[in-house]
Amino acid sequence: MKIYLEPIPERELKPLFEDAGKLIFGRIFTDRMFTMKYNAEKGWHDAKIEKYKSFSLDPAACVLHYSQEIFEGLKAYVSEDGRVLMFRPEENVRRMNRSARRLCMPEIPEEDFLQAMKELIMTEKRWIPRAPGTSLYVRPTMLGTEAFLGVHPAAEYLFYIILSPVGPYFKDGFNPVSIYVEDTLVRAVVGGVGDIKTGGNYAASLMAGLKAKEKGFSQVLWLDAKEHKYVEEVGAMNIFFVYGDQLVTPSLSGSILPGITRASVLELAADMGYRVEERAIAIDEVLEEISSGRITEVFGSGTAAVVSPVGSLHYKGQNYVVNNNQVGEVTKAIYTRLIDIQYGKAEDKFGWVCELGRI
Ligand code: PLP
Ligand code: COI
Repeated sequence: MKIYLEPIPERELKPLFEDAGKLIFGRIFTDRMFTMKYNAEKGWHDAKIEKYKSFSLDPAACVLHYSQEIFEGLKAYVSEDGRVLMFRPEENVRRMNRSARRLCMPEIPEEDFLQAMKELIMTEKRWIPRAPGTSLYVRPTMLGTEAFLGVHPAAEYLFYIILSPVGPYFKDGFNPVSIYVEDTLVRAVVGGVGDIKTGGNYAASLMAGLKAKEKGFSQVLWLDAKEHKYVEEVGAMNIFFVYGDQLVTPSLSGSILPGITRASVLELAADMGYRVEERAIAIDEVLEEISSGRITEVFGSGTAAVVSPVGSLHYKGQNYVVNNNQVGEVTKAIYTRLIDIQYGKAEDKFGWVCELGRI
């Protein structure tokens, strides 16, 4: 694919963030973005890397009314020796195309999608922060842009990629988070769109998120929509329960996101000698086993959240503290192995990391 690179005069470039150690998640965006359009006649066309700027959308654009929107989230890292790396980007490309199929949107050829991300990241490489725990977050997004008010798939789309230098997703960094188990509101149902990355899932989660915040918890743990019995996932991460040397995570029920970090943790943990299991896990079992001490650690996994220790669960008015609200050894070991691979510090025997070039 030929990507047109729009020149930007030097004086129009933004000043870089001042202190990479102080970056928070998703507030700063780089100078440029990738954009590409789709219509039935031309297919995907007009691929360019242009200045980051506001879009103009018709007020009747279907995304604004019926939420025909999908997105992805992945990261670029700089290794200590100056290599620009990405972690399993082809998995995000495949997941985005799965999301596209589910919402009747056009797929993007895998090679073109990967090329667009790589060229944009390398054009913007000065923005990749190098402080510990920082990275360049990559957000590919697709919108139905055609203007109409009937309910049907759009015939025109915009695909774009923006970049944001980020620090830790949680303001406390690698420290245990407190989680509110939501027993009334639901995020997604089997047969719906909970297993793809579409904005509506996050809109549906806002009210419970707010409720949890008001009560002093930082995240929501969702239960299944039918029985409110089985554990699903946290707002922006999948969840793992550690039973000594065994890791258990909810199986992909159809209403949770198949996390790429989740899949990686399952493989890594098995490689590190832990037993791993994917199955339906009832919240009652979790709470009982936390109380009995059989569950020794709990952590979440996600691109933004990486591996995040969970310090307590709150369910129906009661608090269940995990591992004395401390970061557990297993969580720490998996976190370290994962980030060491992502930042090019540890051997990548799985072939997960791809090198884009040098800083
Ligand atoms: N679950 C939800 C709802 C998410 O938004 C995310 C983040 O992308 C995840 C799980 C973790 O997925 P991944 O590891 O692919 O980032
Ligand atoms: C990610 O981890 O990439 C996500 O998309 C989570 C996000 C909703 C902040």
